[in-house]
Amino acid sequence: MPLPAGTIEALLQRRVVFVVGKGGTGRTTVAAAIALLAGRAGKRVLAVDVEATGHLAAALGQRFAEFRPRVLQPNVSGIELRAEESFQEYLGLYFKVPRLARLTPLSRVFDFIATGVPGPRDMLVVGKIAYEERRRDQGRPAWDLIVVDSAASGHSVSHLGAAKAMLTLVRGGVIRNQVQWIDDLVRDPQRSTCVVTALPEEMPVVEAVELRQRLRSEVGVDVGAAVLNRVMLMNTTPAQRSLVTALLDEQHAEAVRSRLGGNPQPFDDALELCRRLHERSEQHERQLRHAFREPVLQVPLMTTKPGLATTRAVAAALSGRAA
Ligand SMILES: Nc1ncnc2c1ncn2[C@@H]1O[C@H](COP(=O)(O)OP(=O)(O)OP(=O)(O)O)[C@@H](O)[C@H]1O
Ligand SMILES: [Mg+2]
Repeated sequence: MPLPAGTIEALLQRRVVFVVGKGGTGRTTVAAAIALLAGRAGKRVLAVDVEATGHLAAALGQRFAEFRPRVLQPNVSGIELRAEESFQEYLGLYFKVPRLARLTPLSRVFDFIATGVPGPRDMLVVGKIAYEERRRDQGRPAWDLIVVDSAASGHSVSHLGAAKAMLTLVRGGVIRNQVQWIDDLVRDPQRSTCVVTALPEEMPVVEAVELRQRLRSEVGVDVGAAVLNRVMLMNTTPAQRSLVTALLDEQHAEAVRSRLGGNPQPFDDALELCRRLHERSEQHERQLRHAFREPVLQVPLMTTKPGLATTRAVAAALSGRAA
């Protein structure tokens, strides 16, 4: 099925794209691919690794990223979020606190924020992203697009909903204003959207549908598209099946076996596997399309090496072009 026209272009028009989904469904690869496409379109891109795993840098062909932006690809810089550094930066920017290490009482506040309570910790994640969105460099926004490799499903809902939740607690003052503009950014569909990743398997699809619902109703954030990753686009044909059946029949079996130096059965198994994976991909694509009003983009199962090669192949698939 052809890609819905303009989808990637529509995503790249936003200021922030959050890539969310169940663990292992390709969040990092899809985030890296979107960043690559935006960079190629001439945008200045910031790719954010929320979990600081180093995977996003690897998907963009680099060994590491840091809390400070580091160029990973042409037009694409990357950062890794760390609660402690985010908090230090926050104190420095807004309260002109020079160095946290000297301030024992604040260190205690920091322990409270960085380790125990989920709400303020989540605020540091989304707050840093919002700060980068607002940051200006020589009179213009520092970044045209921020692509976020988010945390796994439930956790990403907490991050995205942190400002909204905090607004119910903070009634006034400077903190409320800050939290308000963060919430405004996250929940403005013109500026922010989510891409939900899934695989053609039972649980990832169920989780993607549930996640879409939670993001829209609990947080009120826009969902721009779903990505069904690792699909088997290729189906088997009757001609292929009869060829393999002929290869395996008694008449040819001996000749084929001696030519191959082994059992030809894997040909038959590979065709059957391909048929089943294709069938399963189609079934889960239908399921996802039924639940998502938004475009569902399919990304084939690649045979490229993990890392930049796979990211490039996924970028090509997302943009509807050959790799
Ligand atoms: N379309 C694809 N075809 C083949 N391999 C893929 C594809 N997409 C991703 N991969 C590979 O699958 C692995 C998992 O992908 P990725 O790291 O992007 O998932 P993730 O959702 O970020 O996982 P985690 O939950 O660990 O953060 C990686 O090795 C990646 O290179
Ligand atoms: Mg990842």
